[in-house]
Amino acid sequence: MHEPRKLYVKSFGCQMNVYDSHRMADTLAREGFVETQDPAEADLVILNTCHIREKAAEKVYSELGRLRKQKQEAGSDTMIAVAGCVAQAEGAEIMRRAAVVDVVVGPQSYHRLPELLAEAKAGKRVVDTEFPAEDKFDHLPAPTRAATRSRGPAAFVTVQEGCDKFCTFCVVPYTRGAEVSRPVTKILDEAARLLDQGVREITLIGQNVNAFHGEGPDGKVWSLARLMERLAEMKGLARLRYTTSHPRDMGEDLIAAHRDLPQLMPYLHLPVQSGSDRILAAMNRKHGRDLFLSLIEKMRDARPDLALSSDFIVGFPGETDRDFEDTLDLVREVGFASAYSFKYSSRPGTPAAEHDAQVAEEVKTERLAELQKLLEASKAAFDAACRGRTFDILLEKPGRQPGQLIGRSPYLQSVVVNDPPAGIGELLTVTITDVGPNSLAGVPAETPLSPALSRPLAAMEA
Ligand code: 5AD
Ligand code: SF4
Repeated sequence: MHEPRKLYVKSFGCQMNVYDSHRMADTLAREGFVETQDPAEADLVILNTCHIREKAAEKVYSELGRLRKQKQEAGSDTMIAVAGCVAQAEGAEIMRRAAVVDVVVGPQSYHRLPELLAEAKAGKRVVDTEFPAEDKFDHLPAPTRAATRSRGPAAFVTVQEGCDKFCTFCVVPYTRGAEVSRPVTKILDEAARLLDQGVREITLIGQNVNAFHGEGPDGKVWSLARLMERLAEMKGLARLRYTTSHPRDMGEDLIAAHRDLPQLMPYLHLPVQSGSDRILAAMNRKHGRDLFLSLIEKMRDARPDLALSSDFIVGFPGETDRDFEDTLDLVREVGFASAYSFKYSSRPGTPAAEHDAQVAEEVKTERLAELQKLLEASKAAFDAACRGRTFDILLEKPGRQPGQLIGRSPYLQSVVVNDPPAGIGELLTVTITDVGPNSLAGVPAETPLSPALSRPLAAMEA
């Protein structure tokens, strides 16, 4: 018998890439590949790349440099493939800059990987960055029970891809293309299979997830809220999340879903980017500060324990001190539980890159430091307020000490529990006793909050 061939996949960037990496691994499992965590022993390395900011895109070239050296030193014939958004945006450039690359494959062509690898094996260097007519999801196999188990009880399901919003700073509409929603039946089938394999929490993902408008089994267009209502009826599903949303697409039915669906976690990632109306307009965000703030008020009315996270960009072209103050002010007003913040990075081909009022690097650095200080304080205040609260956590993995397990709170905080009376893949009601910078600690509560949801369908642990 042949030794199985080994596959090492490294994901950069967003959750969509994590999901896609799993789908690629599932496709290649059929071809006899098993996953390894060690690139040195891999027969095939896939870098699943991110193009959102220059820094993210440059990472792929330094990683390729490392791989080239490693291949040379070991005299190995490891194949190297570059996937994801850098592949889509600069496929030819990758081939030119990095002779070590055998295959470049864009996000819409992952189902073609086996053929592309066969061509590469025959000595060709292949680039496939088409947007093919066929639906890749029809050709990407589902994960095996063992693969799902190794990925844990919280899983992602892609429901839509691409974006039609064209924020002036963003490459996504170009790398991921126009917005396309998957048909509802296919999403439900994928979810049912994951639940049957022991998954308890599903995060619906898409670049603009709340713009979802998939074809329903009744032939009508279903919204994200309608899809989630249906998912919430599925046996075994304890928790639902969705990301990433655009403020413009937070429909009334989606807000109502936060009130009506107990499985829908009270945590929403809603990027705002800036607190200045002038900058939001220049970004083509299609919403102002007031719309964002009034949305949050409505969401909190619907679900009083709702917490928010967001994304921010500092130093967008033309951003003045006054604009930046507006952003700080918005952060103070909302009180985010968590947030990501970035310096504006000029991306080739986007309208903002052409702007002549680019902000100086030192100014961006200062503003980012100030914003992050405020966001960290906001997060620390939210975490501190969790002390003494009782909520369910989903146990996901072992902790550092023997007997410890780590679970996720409704707000995605890591919660460490000693000797829990439950296993991985189960919900446990805990009361938070300690709050650290990176995780919380909890003890099992006397009375479970949602006993009906805590019974797993299938054990996650072998
Ligand atoms: N520069 C900096 N940050 C960016 N983002 C998207 N494009 C850029 C860019 N050109 C950020 C936004 C987005 C997140 C995923 O990345 O905040 O919400
Ligand atoms: Fe990019 Fe804007 Fe679309 Fe988000 S909504 S993916 S920031 S263009």
